[in-house]
Amino acid sequence: MVKKERFKKDAFFSKMSRLGLALSYDDVRLKTGHSEVEPAAVNLLTKFSRQVSLNNPIVSSPMDTVTESDMAIEMAKLGGLGIIHRALPPKEQSQAVAKVKFYLNGLIKKPICINQDEKVGDVLKTREEKGYKFHTFPVLDVHGKFVGLVTQNDFEFCINQNLKVGDIMSADLKCENDGTSVKEAFDIMRKNKKKVLPLLDQEKKLVGMYVFSDVKRIMTGSSAQYNIDANGNLRVGAAVGVGEEALERVELLVKKNIDVFVIDTAHGDSERVIKTLKKIKKLYPHIDVVVGNVSEGHSAKRLVDAGADGVKVGQGPGSICTTRIIAGIGHPQVSAVYECSKAIRGSGVPVCADGGIKYSGDITIAIGAGADSVMLGNMLAGTKETPGDIVMVQGVPYKNYRGMGSLGAMEKSKASRDRYLQTGSGKDKLVPEGVEGIVPFKGPVSHIIDQNLGGLRSGMGYVGAANIKELQLKADFHHISGAGLSESHPHGVIITKEAPNYKT
Ligand code: XMP
Repeated sequence: MVKKERFKKDAFFSKMSRLGLALSYDDVRLKTGHSEVEPAAVNLLTKFSRQVSLNNPIVSSPMDTVTESDMAIEMAKLGGLGIIHRALPPKEQSQAVAKVKFYLNGLIKKPICINQDEKVGDVLKTREEKGYKFHTFPVLDVHGKFVGLVTQNDFEFCINQNLKVGDIMSADLKCENDGTSVKEAFDIMRKNKKKVLPLLDQEKKLVGMYVFSDVKRIMTGSSAQYNIDANGNLRVGAAVGVGEEALERVELLVKKNIDVFVIDTAHGDSERVIKTLKKIKKLYPHIDVVVGNVSEGHSAKRLVDAGADGVKVGQGPGSICTTRIIAGIGHPQVSAVYECSKAIRGSGVPVCADGGIKYSGDITIAIGAGADSVMLGNMLAGTKETPGDIVMVQGVPYKNYRGMGSLGAMEKSKASRDRYLQTGSGKDKLVPEGVEGIVPFKGPVSHIIDQNLGGLRSGMGYVGAANIKELQLKADFHHISGAGLSESHPHGVIITKEAPNYKT
């Protein structure tokens, strides 16, 4: 019999619910517990969706002032994930995804091949003309079957350039089947001391190739934290909307080996979203689809029942959102995350807490309340990797940050109007649900991620949670008053030196 997991926080939230209280980040703090956990030793491995894991729980938001390819590359290199926004036209969005996917040379899917009857001199001439930096070429016979490899050594030891490639190639090779992962390739190449590993299908046709120097870089040293797919390429997600336009995007993104789609809407529990989800899952059952946003438990459950591989929670908590004020709806974020994750417990579908995170402690709280990952907009806005230029205001550097439902974003892109169901209105009749602004320039995003993960690790140490699952199980909360909140922030002092992780 499977033992039912006991979540410490259940009693707290059911009491709050009896009192008719829904809570947000500033309403709660986590209780400390007896701990044997060293913050530096906690394991931050988690999931964004059923199949897409993360080495840390931070995901960058699909906003036009936050995530394009530079941010997505950096996020995946730091172990998290970036979701490319959908205000980009479909082709540009898929090109941004391709940039992330080609950033590392994991599996080379279409290696440049040569024919066994070509002359060595001709191959070297072509190499020179085309500016290829590499010397390793798979060799094919006239039927396109793989027959051998030529490497730098073969070229160097060849003194007669009139010889054919077939005369100098090495045919005694270690080959593997299609589907060999980068990790398996690393082990096989080390064991067999092979610098190149061709992958063949059943008809001996070449379907890919690993090169040891690339594979080693991906699997060891500073690259070990990279968030990579089975082929050793960086992981990346892309936002799509609903209906035909979404399917057009999806088709282009699949060709670029996208890892996860995010159906990114202001109201995830709507018929058009569910229909689009079902269509995508029918066409591409092997690719994960995260769906959002929702903020009620029954909505999360409906999305999971419809086939969602991840649920994004947050309606109106974002720093640039005005949805709650303009439309009057919403659910304070900590309670929303709790209710949604509770409603889908046991389904294996992860929850992403999206919006409203101001400090690293909020990440610990979001995960404690039930999230598996968090999505950040404001905290990452203003970093070097965000789209857009630095703007100087009275000598101080800033970058733009705006809501996807702001007037500027909706005027610029149809996708942003769609997100807020404003397709029909003329531009002068747009009803924004977000604002436009600037945030200080913050330098490289890695500094922000390091500080946030440091804060999360520290929080896990206080709770006594060695990993994300333990944090979800052991977290329990205090409901704090306004006095509790002002006690929590620095008080009675004029701050003379800014801390890297704290701003008022
Ligand atoms: P933070 O707090 O990190 O929130 O800045 C980012 C999240 O806010 C959502 N988002 C919006 N919500 N109107 C809204 O109501 C908007 O214009 C808007 N733009 C973004 C989105 O979920 C994002 O990840």
